[in-house]
Amino acid sequence: MAGESVVAISARLGVVAGLCLRGARVADVGADHGRLAEYLVLQGIARSVICTDLNDAPARKARARVAYLDGRTEVRQGDGLAPIRPGEVDVVCIAGMSGRLMADILDRGLPVLAEVARVVLQPLCHERALREWLAANSWRLIGEETAEERGRQYDTLVAAHGDGRAPYTGNDVDTLLEMGPFLSTRPTDAFQRKWNGKLRHLREVAAGRARAGDGVGAAVADGRIAMIEGVLSREGRAPAPQA
Ligand SMILES: C[S@@+](CC[C@H](N)C(=O)[O-])C[C@H]1O[C@@H](n2cnc3c(N)ncnc32)[C@H](O)[C@@H]1O
Repeated sequence: MAGESVVAISARLGVVAGLCLRGARVADVGADHGRLAEYLVLQGIARSVICTDLNDAPARKARARVAYLDGRTEVRQGDGLAPIRPGEVDVVCIAGMSGRLMADILDRGLPVLAEVARVVLQPLCHERALREWLAANSWRLIGEETAEERGRQYDTLVAAHGDGRAPYTGNDVDTLLEMGPFLSTRPTDAFQRKWNGKLRHLREVAAGRARAGDGVGAAVADGRIAMIEGVLSREGRAPAPQA
């Protein structure tokens, strides 16, 4: 186990840690290996961390990792936010699961969320479903970052209580929900790499659908291609050329 003062964390989880509030009591939902909790406490970012995990093996793994941080960390096995009582934490972090599952966990944890100042969410996929849940449930997106690790990019969303619809103004709401209101208006190189990868995939899909005579499927893929190209070509950021 790592010493008390030195601990490494992946680039991906480092972005989550960097978005937590200093001195907060944090919940890490779906903690698995417990590395985020260990890092948050040892770096002095979190005052304390409660890890939750649905499954037995990950809960034991997390317990084994953070046991030496007695009093500052705790592992509770259970579903989502169910093991947390309202008022016990200030920040909720969830990383490494789909945006749909995250939305479901948040939806079932409303009494806990009512007393939380911030959520930090890093979905593996279905980011749009998560943005939609936040917008519909009075959680205002206040920032987004792209984490990048081993050639894969991860949207990381930060939200606080407020007008959830506020970041989605204008007539481009669909694009903002899909690509992120902060990420798409201030695109980074990592963002560019993520969406150029999706473009390549969608062009293959569109061509395959057209070859198969699936005009509707090809049109859906073409619509998504046009949306992505529109964002990537803003501010002189040309999309990658078609292969
Ligand atoms: C892929 S791991 C992610 C671990 C860590 N958060 C990370 O990002 O590296 C997902 C973890 O979420 C847990 N999990 C899945 N559904 C859950 C739920 N409803 N409530 C709590 N934990 C859950 C799984 O058991 C697993 O340990």
